[in-house]
Amino acid sequence: GMANVMVIGSINMDVVNRVHRHPRPGETVHGLGTSYHPGGKGANQAVAAARADARVTMVGAVGTDGFGDELITNLQRAGVDTAAVLRKEGTSGLAFIDVDDAGENLIILSAGANGKLSPSDLVAARPLFAGADIVLLQNEIPWETTRAAIAAAHDAGVRVCLNPAPAFAVPADVLPLLHLLAVNETEAEAVSGVKVTDDARAAEAAAQLVAAGAEAVLLTLGGDGVLYRDRGGRSIRLPAYPVDVVDTTGAGDTFIGAFAAEWVRTGDVAAALHFAAAAAAISVTRPGAQASIPARAEIEAFLAVQRGGRT
Ligand code: RIB
Ligand code: NA
Repeated sequence: GMANVMVIGSINMDVVNRVHRHPRPGETVHGLGTSYHPGGKGANQAVAAARADARVTMVGAVGTDGFGDELITNLQRAGVDTAAVLRKEGTSGLAFIDVDDAGENLIILSAGANGKLSPSDLVAARPLFAGADIVLLQNEIPWETTRAAIAAAHDAGVRVCLNPAPAFAVPADVLPLLHLLAVNETEAEAVSGVKVTDDARAAEAAAQLVAAGAEAVLLTLGGDGVLYRDRGGRSIRLPAYPVDVVDTTGAGDTFIGAFAAEWVRTGDVAAALHFAAAAAAISVTRPGAQASIPARAEIEAFLAVQRGGRT
């Protein structure tokens, strides 16, 4: 059947400046152009799951500015249910992003409405847990709200996926409540203390996080692919599909949203990893976060070409 995915998290307008190379502290460089793209880790993951054909409900907040309308409309166009997206007086969340010629980004977050999403705002969203298979959480809304969402999901018997991004040290008592801990190298280090410099250290970090209580760990390694490990002792290492990188913004979110949707739908971890790796690979070939996230048909076509051995 269809996967029911709930996302409780951030919604941002990304203000993106292209630069040949990032400025160093104290330095000024000429920008090559500015564009506005809907983003935010929560909203990106919601769009990725919706484009993978999951039924998706978003809980979050936008401001009373014009960006708020645009961000909500954009989520709706992607098929995300926004009935539980609140309006908070003031500005929407903004992410100031610089993308260099290599497609690498630097991001400064201005929380805006995301910072005003409180645990009490979740009370109205409680009935939504009943219909959800999994809830996706990140770290761009207040931690106390995310913490309350984890507890509510736990009470309702809904699987919890936490992506502690931007990176922070997840409290030890939270790890055993997670069905999936999704981290990149930086986040893996912040939570496990293990610096992920190569495959052996990636395996060490993932094993440590499972030992600390996470039921499964998804460690995304950018251009080096992904490592999955779970409590059952299962370990899967996949390389990334080689593509021409234009903009990596939101690639991790695309991976997580697509993986969650496919994992819940089929229960097949390996297939969900391939599906998500393909979704993320396609997303880095295009600019913008949500704008670059592929739909199921495109992901399946990409995978069919890969299986055929052609590029
Ligand atoms: O993960 C990418 C996202 O991080 C961007 O869309 C930006 O909004 C920041 O939150
Ligand atoms: Na992209």
